[in-house]
Amino acid sequence: PTKLVYQSPTGLELENIAVRPSGKLLLTSVLSPEVHTLDPASTNATLEDIYTFPNSTGLLGIVGYKPDVYALVACTFNLTARSAVPGTVMIWGLDLTAETPVAWQIVAIPESSFINGMSSVPGYPDLVLAADSFVGAAYQITISTGTARIAIQDAAMAPGAPAPALGINGLHVHAGALYFTNSELGTFSRIPVAVDELGVHRAGDVQVLGLVEPSGPTHLYDDFAIDSAGRAWVTVHPGALTLLYPLANGTWTQENAAGDPEGSYAVFTEPTSAVFGAGGEVHILYVTTEAGQ
Ligand SMILES: *[C@@H]1O[C@H](CO)[C@@H](O)[C@H](O)[C@H]1NC(C)=O
Ligand SMILES: *[C@@H]1O[C@H](CO)[C@@H](O)[C@H](O)[C@H]1NC(C)=O
Ligand SMILES: *[C@@H]1O[C@H](CO)[C@@H](O)[C@H](O)[C@H]1NC(C)=O
Ligand SMILES: *[C@@H]1O[C@H](CO)[C@@H](O)[C@H](O)[C@H]1NC(C)=O
Repeated sequence: PTKLVYQSPTGLELENIAVRPSGKLLLTSVLSPEVHTLDPASTNATLEDIYTFPNSTGLLGIVGYKPDVYALVACTFNLTARSAVPGTVMIWGLDLTAETPVAWQIVAIPESSFINGMSSVPGYPDLVLAADSFVGAAYQITISTGTARIAIQDAAMAPGAPAPALGINGLHVHAGALYFTNSELGTFSRIPVAVDELGVHRAGDVQVLGLVEPSGPTHLYDDFAIDSAGRAWVTVHPGALTLLYPLANGTWTQENAAGDPEGSYAVFTEPTSAVFGAGGEVHILYVTTEAGQ
């Protein structure tokens, strides 16, 4: 079952989501330089601004890498080009552990025009990964040193078509592998990774685990969440949430979990990201959409 938690009265396009230890949601939009918050437990949830990032017009991926401390992507987002104005992509830190939010610039990625989803690296709270949808790569960002480098680049992450086509979109490290969607190629894949003192490295070949269904130019995998059983709950444009999971023999399969894969917008209008609720709330998945849901 699905339930509408909130609908933006202006239809503010929502891009990415993180959950605070309190259960409150943090929301980003490519149309707004603010990190927004809402309490999904309140009867009539309202959106509030937590922090406004200077020199930017839009935010993309956001991920918690330590309790109530986040890394996120800010840029000047060019709506015509549907990408960042070159030279404006900045990875910020946002610490919400004290009464007043503290934000700092971790590192600029001037050569990128589209940093999209972000992932923590379980067990390595000094590292986060960020997807470059145009270049087709996963950047590794080291928080303490404020450095960024391409950790993994692969044809399976590249869009295979000119901009603004998006390659790698969402990415999440889980159980020794980096899982990622490729919007243009319509693929959900994983690549084994190893993490050591030098960072995140590829440790095997890309395996394609799923193809977007039904295929078509408007059917695109976006960001996703992985549950404790290793199943992926993937948002799919124009209007569905798909569950991808391995069968007993290791072959992956998928089924529609919610919404309408044909895109009637019956439940979701262009879903963009999904995240599990905090703590014991793992049976609730929160989904953002481009229609401000
Ligand atoms: C929530 O909002 C609706 C519509 O504005 C209103 O009818 C209802 O009374 C509100 N509920 C609460 C608990 O404030
Ligand atoms: C914003 O950009 C201006 C002009 O490039 C620069 O002087 C200023 O330091 C920037 N502010 C921040 C917080 O980065
Ligand atoms: C935004 O993108 C359009 C179309 O590609 C381009 O003509 C324009 O110069 C861009 N604006 C900025 C500020 O880069
Ligand atoms: C795994 O099981 C499924 C369902 O029984 C079957 O369709 C598929 O062919 C099997 N894959 C392999 C590699 O045996």
